[in-house]
Amino acid sequence: MEKEFTYCMPTQICFGAGAAKKIGDHIKGENVLIISDPFLYSNGTAKEIGDCMTGKKVTYFSEIEPNPSCESVNKAAAIAREIHADCVVGIGGGSSMDVAKAVSCLVDNEGSLYNYYSGGTHTFKPRKTMLICVPTTAGTGSEVTNVAVFTNKKIGIKMPMVNQYFWADYSVIDPELTYTLPPQMTASTGMDAFCHAIEAYWNKESVPICDMLSIGALKLIMENIKKAYDCPNDKKARGNMILASLTAGISFSQTRTTGIHALSFPLTTEFGANHGTACSITLPAFIRLVSHNLPGKMNDLAHYLGYEDGLALADAVEALMISMHMPVRLHEIGVKDSDLEHITQVGLGAAIIHLTPAEMNEETVYALLKSIL
Ligand SMILES: [Fe+2]
Repeated sequence: MEKEFTYCMPTQICFGAGAAKKIGDHIKGENVLIISDPFLYSNGTAKEIGDCMTGKKVTYFSEIEPNPSCESVNKAAAIAREIHADCVVGIGGGSSMDVAKAVSCLVDNEGSLYNYYSGGTHTFKPRKTMLICVPTTAGTGSEVTNVAVFTNKKIGIKMPMVNQYFWADYSVIDPELTYTLPPQMTASTGMDAFCHAIEAYWNKESVPICDMLSIGALKLIMENIKKAYDCPNDKKARGNMILASLTAGISFSQTRTTGIHALSFPLTTEFGANHGTACSITLPAFIRLVSHNLPGKMNDLAHYLGYEDGLALADAVEALMISMHMPVRLHEIGVKDSDLEHITQVGLGAAIIHLTPAEMNEETVYALLKSIL
C-alpha cells in the first residue's frame, strides 16, 4: 500500500512569457512595496514591473543583500508599515522573495523579526497584506514555498524559517525575466533547483505527488541547463529551466531539503560561496551515498534520466558541473582540511540534515566532506 501523505500548495501560479507585465491584475489595494536587490533596481527590472501596476502607489526597497539579515527585513518592514502597504512584492532570487515573505507578515504584526525567528517567542497572526513573488532566476523555488532563510548576524548563523503565512498569494513566473541571467548564475541557480528536486525525491518525508514533480524537474534540468548556459538567448531552454525550478520548488515545499542544503549554510556564510554552488558542490557525493542506501528508488530515477544506476548519474552530474566551470571540490572554494570538523558541526545543527535517507553523524558527514575535499 502507498504511504499516507498530505499535500498543500495554496499559491496561485501565473506562468508565461510576459506574465510580469500583467502583475497589476492581481493586486488588491493601492499601496505597494516592491522589494528587490540593488542590481534589479539599477538595471530597471523592478521599475519596469512597478510601472505595470497602473493606478497603484509604488514604493521601492532595493537594499537586499545575498543571505539577507534580520536587520534588512526590519528595515523593509518599517517602510512597509509607514506606507501602509496593501501588497508586498518580492522580485529577484530567493533573498528578495524571502524578505518579502517576512515583511508582508510584519506589516500586520508588531515588533522585529527577532521576536518571531531564531529563538523569538512570538507567533505571527494571519497577515492581511498581500504577498506576491516574482522570481528572476530559475533556481530558488522560493516563490512556491512557505520557507524563508535569514542570517542572524547576532550569532552569525543562517537558518530557515517556516511559516504558514509565507505562502505567496500569487507567484508570477515569467521566463522573459531570466533571458539576461549570466551563464555562471544560470549554472549555479539551475543546479540549486536540481538539488531541490532530488532532495525532495529521496527525502525521508517524500510525497508521491512530489516524486513525480521531482522526476520531471530533474529531466528538464538535465536536458536544458547546458543549453541555457551556452546560449543565454535560447528561449525554449530558459522556459524549461524556470518551469523546472517551479516544479522542484513545489516538490521540496512539501518535504523540505536534506543534507545538501544543511551543509550549504556554513559554505555560504563562512566561505562566501553562492547558494547554488554551496549546495551543488556536495551533490554528487550525496547522490553516491543515497544510491547506496536507496538503490531501488535511485536506480528508477537514473534509468528515467538515461543512466545505468545512481553512481552513473552522480558521475554525469559531476561532469555536467565541470562543463559549466562549477567547482566540484571543497578546496576550490577555499575550504581546508582543518575546516571540515567545523562544517560538519554546523551542518549537523540544521534539523533538515536528518531528512537525508542515510545516517548523518559526525563520522559520516566528515567522511562525505573529506571525500570531496
Ligand atoms: Fe536551495
